[in-house]
Parts: sequence; C-alpha cells; structure tokens
Amino acid sequence: MSKLKVAVLISGRGSNLKALLDACDTPNFPAEIVHVISNKKTAKGLRYAEEYGVPYEVISHKDFATRADFDMELHEHIKKSGAEFICLAGFMRVLSNKFVDLWKDKVVNIHPSLLPSFKGVDTHKQALECGVKYHGCTVHFVVPDIDSGPIIVQEVVPVLDDDTEETLGARCLEKEHIAYRRALRTIAEKKYKIEGNKVITWG
Ligand code: GAR
Repeated sequence: MSKLKVAVLISGRGSNLKALLDACDTPNFPAEIVHVISNKKTAKGLRYAEEYGVPYEVISHKDFATRADFDMELHEHIKKSGAEFICLAGFMRVLSNKFVDLWKDKVVNIHPSLLPSFKGVDTHKQALECGVKYHGCTVHFVVPDIDSGPIIVQEVVPVLDDDTEETLGARCLEKEHIAYRRALRTIAEKKYKIEGNKVITWG
C-alpha cells in the first residue's frame, strides 16, 4: 500500500515534527513526510527537516498583506510538494476558512490540553489555575473554529500537587508525541470515519 504523503507546518521548536519524522522512519509506518514549512525563519524545528533530509522552506506570513494571501501561498506550495494531508505541529497561525475548506478533513492539529478545555495559549497555566486533576493533549481535525473539530486521539496526564507550568508541560509533551504518532497511523491506515463532531476509529 502506498504511503500517505504528509506536509508538516511548524512555527518553533519542532519536537512534534521530530516525533512524526521518527514515526515515519520506523518500518511499515503508513505515512511519509514530504514537506515541512515554517512561517518563521528562526524556527528551531527546521533543523529536524534538514537532518532527516526532508524538503523544507520558510514562508513568512509577514511577507503577505492579508491572511488569505498567505494561506493561498501555503496552499500552492503544499499542493506542489505532492502532500495529500497536513499536520500542524506547533503552527501558531490561524488558518482562514477558505484554506480549511480547500483541505477539508485533511488537516489535523495537536493542542496541549484535553479539548474542549483550555483553548488558546498558556494551556498548562490554565489547567493549574483551574485546579483540574487531569490534563493532557488532543489531536483533532481542523475546522474554521479555533481549537475545535472532531477529536482523533487524546492522551491524559495526572496533575500533581507540586506541578509547575514547566513540569506539567514536559509531562504533557511526552504524551503529545505518542498521541500524534498514533493519530497519524490511524489516519494513514484509513481506520477512521468522521461522523459529525465524532471520529470513530478501529483496528
Ligand atoms: C506543542 O505543545 C503543541 O501542542 C502546541 O505548541 C507546542 C509546539 O511544540 N500547539 C499549540 O498550542 C497549538 N494551538 P513543538 O514545536 O515542540 O512541537
């Protein structure tokens, strides 16, 4: 069976990109990363694309007058790369409705909380302030609403009494890497269906 060709969009550190590159490097993994794009030229994660020999480029949102213009440039470059699917991995830009429509059900994102709790930024701080006992991460399909969309995988971590944003964030990040790998496998093997806001998986 041919592998699902994936583009990964990043803005920074790139640890989730690295987790996906490692996953794709394991025997019989059903996906391959064919392109990496960062909207920031300083993104440390670009070094992983370089290391793994995956074509990469920077497309800075600052070079475009509007969000729509930037998104259409992204769209063109992703299409040209041959990618059929997009993983957002710490890509800190909101995508326009037009882009989301063009890639309907073909874009997933990882978010550092158990959605629908703690949307937006500073999710570990939000969790600590809220006093929840469990926190985690979510891989979900991207829809026009921010940090929403059908959930594919969630991973949970306990919140400890002496947790700081840093300790909780680090525990969560380990789970993110596991969750993203699992989600991409499920997607690439086509062992899922989307029913309304729900993703049903099997296998
Ligand atoms: C990750 O924690 C990811 O969940 C988060 O940014 C971080 C990127 O880390 N994404 C969001 O907050 C998106 N709303 P990484 O660059 O090391 O993968």
